[in-house]
Amino acid sequence: MPDIIKPDLVQIETELGINRKAAIIEPVQHPALAYNKVQLHIKRDDLLHPVISGNKWRKLKYILLHALNKGHQHLISMGGAYSNHLHALAYIGHKLNLKTTGLIRGEEPEKDNKTLSDLRRWGMTLEFVSRSRFRELRKYRTFDSEPAKLYNGFWIPEGGANQEALRGVGEILKEIDMEFNTLAIACGTGTTLAGLAKKLPRTHRVLGFSALKGGGFLEKDVKKLLKDKSINNWSINFDYHFGGFAKTTDELTSFINEIQSYNDIPLEPIYNGKMLFGLIDMIKNERFKKGQTIIAIHTGGLQGDRN
Ligand SMILES: Cc1ncc(COP(=O)(O)O)c(C=O)c1O
Repeated sequence: MPDIIKPDLVQIETELGINRKAAIIEPVQHPALAYNKVQLHIKRDDLLHPVISGNKWRKLKYILLHALNKGHQHLISMGGAYSNHLHALAYIGHKLNLKTTGLIRGEEPEKDNKTLSDLRRWGMTLEFVSRSRFRELRKYRTFDSEPAKLYNGFWIPEGGANQEALRGVGEILKEIDMEFNTLAIACGTGTTLAGLAKKLPRTHRVLGFSALKGGGFLEKDVKKLLKDKSINNWSINFDYHFGGFAKTTDELTSFINEIQSYNDIPLEPIYNGKMLFGLIDMIKNERFKKGQTIIAIHTGGLQGDRN
């Protein structure tokens, strides 16, 4: 693969094989929708790329451009042992001949899961850090903060949560060519939600579903990312975490099976399964007016469910 000398996003997207046209919008079928006269569509951002799927490329796109513009060849970030973010970053590094380092939460397991084995296969240097160190690392949000100096590279905060990420996320809206009232999105750091809220006309709203229990900090983080207090067309629902991050229940599993009996949509229980469960439940409880159209953004993440 040739080295990229002058960063050019069109060239980078071609090199990586990003396929925007694949990320179609399709109707979702479920009896609760017809009964409550609400339309639900899903934007299949999971189909953007087989590895850098969903919001991963959206968030990393301008972060990567920024790093390359500054002449960096080494990208460092952090995540859990199943991190979709590190998975996408390692693949990008592999395809673009960039060095990558991943700081992973907790002890090194005796046997790699599928995510970790992909990270190593794509040449990412892995360093396992204690949970307390991991919490400390979450504080570093700028490209040149402590870990950048320590590992001599370009630091990307957990989940790509920074200003540059918002721009790429906002581009999702350019690909929505139908009328709608509400966008729905799963939240981990709230960055994707912030990127959508920033670009969305004030006549529309974006509704996030927290994948985490006790995700109260999310609202604060979204406000910090948005910087502009007048942007208030967003909210986050905290009722559908199913016990916490990456936790699941039989009810959630049956819901995913039920959705898949009506639709050909791959779903994982960590982010998108919970978001769709929450949406359908809210629709059943008449929390949306009749005649409304919702577009859910499928953020991918299916690799995390292979392990
Ligand atoms: C598949 C998937 N969906 C949703 C999210 C949540 O995105 P954000 O951290 O921008 O809230 C993540 C985490 O980045 C993710 O991996």
